[in-house]
Amino acid sequence: MERILSFVESNKDRYLSELKDFLAIPSVSSQSEHNKDTRACAEWVASQMRTIGMNNVQIFETPGHPIVYCDWLAAAGKPTVLFYGHYDVQPVDPVNLWTSPPFEAAIRGENLYARGSADDKGQVYIHLKAIESYMKNSGNLPVNIKMIIEGEEEVGSANLDNFVKGKKDLLKADLVLISDSAMFARGVPSVCYGLRGLAYMEVEVTGSKSDLHSGSFGGSVHNPIQALSETISMLHDKNGRIAIKGFYNDVRPLSKAERTAYKKLPWNDKKYAKDLGAKQLYGEKGYTTLERLWARPTLECNGIWGGYTGEGAKTVLPAKAFAKISMRLVPDQSSDRAAKLFERQIKRIAPKTVDVKVRALHGGEPAITPIDSPGVQAAVAALEKGFGKKPLYQREGGSIPIVVQFKRILGLDTVLLGFGLPDENAHAPDEHINLDNFFGGIRTSIHFYNELPNYWKNGKKK
Ligand code: BES
Ligand code: ZN
Repeated sequence: MERILSFVESNKDRYLSELKDFLAIPSVSSQSEHNKDTRACAEWVASQMRTIGMNNVQIFETPGHPIVYCDWLAAAGKPTVLFYGHYDVQPVDPVNLWTSPPFEAAIRGENLYARGSADDKGQVYIHLKAIESYMKNSGNLPVNIKMIIEGEEEVGSANLDNFVKGKKDLLKADLVLISDSAMFARGVPSVCYGLRGLAYMEVEVTGSKSDLHSGSFGGSVHNPIQALSETISMLHDKNGRIAIKGFYNDVRPLSKAERTAYKKLPWNDKKYAKDLGAKQLYGEKGYTTLERLWARPTLECNGIWGGYTGEGAKTVLPAKAFAKISMRLVPDQSSDRAAKLFERQIKRIAPKTVDVKVRALHGGEPAITPIDSPGVQAAVAALEKGFGKKPLYQREGGSIPIVVQFKRILGLDTVLLGFGLPDENAHAPDEHINLDNFFGGIRTSIHFYNELPNYWKNGKKK
């Protein structure tokens, strides 16, 4: 172990400069102008896998972006880890708000800034380097590892289900490991055991067959922007609850034990609001901030547009207005059901003066993973060694749709071992990763792979 860990120390500069190459590839999965880059990124990942000594490296085509696979299966009698991550990233707009260009990684202070640095290229890279460090210094790995790194996580993992269903044998393993979430706070490592699900919707409101002069026609028809705003404003009640009929039917109430545990976590609402630059916190009455973030469903308008938004004034009564609205879901809600209830509610409450279309864009199911599994226990031990501190247990508000599918299709529980921080601007300008966490993540991952066999025996839980 000593040798492996000191190898990490002496290769820090090289690891960072290779990570910068990874981050330089603009693999924005949602924008077709980046399709070539996204493929190039898959190839970069594949060549890294070969370089660090993984076997059976393959790029699998999908109807969308490719999935990269590799394995190393020479640890006879030892457990098999299926590592999952994604090489795609979110768009960079508004690009003018970045301090340095999003695809030219720059170190400032204790952070490395670039799109994908935290979500998720940086965290995928942590594992590639943990594996390299292990392999180069002991000639083998302490466990069997299979890796799938996909290119469509940020757009809902539409083709991953079919891939997993079609490759059950190839993906056979004992547990899933994912590093695509955050630690609780700086210096506070954590194991995540819950993620919210998602149902993403688009609403289109039409008021007339074309744009109209707002002087000649204003007063005669319902402005679709106004109609849409009225509709959206009715989706929450005065207590901040989601006003969709039947929406809460399947929401699993927070247990007493969980509420008590959350209250013991180091949390300060005032500081949180100040850090966000928010005047005041807002949310469902009767729940603390952490409860609302992790264990209660929410509905957010992600975007709204229509009419004239260019320079100067234009007196127009627009023909159409649009909104993108998504719901974060908690156990035992289903994204299909939430989408149906949403559509029904919109049709019920939208003014009869306009035409309304509702489309479901994509979804993912909420997940709770067991914390008494051998994988989680190994993660706890590894975090303690990697960061010198006992981790705490937390849930997260974000979504990783494949987690539930790994359970349903492969029967596998997932360990969520995140090395990001909540304030690292994932999906926003100036995304970054803390360098101490990056290297702490490599150390922790090395310890995780090394510890795991101690928590299993002949492939069985100890
Ligand atoms: N890394 C995030 C998921 C995440 C965010 C986990 C915060 C824990 C905390 C992931 O890349 C992501 O952003 N997922 C999308 C999924 C969606 C597009 C289906 C999300 O949560 O919006
Ligand atoms: Zn991610």
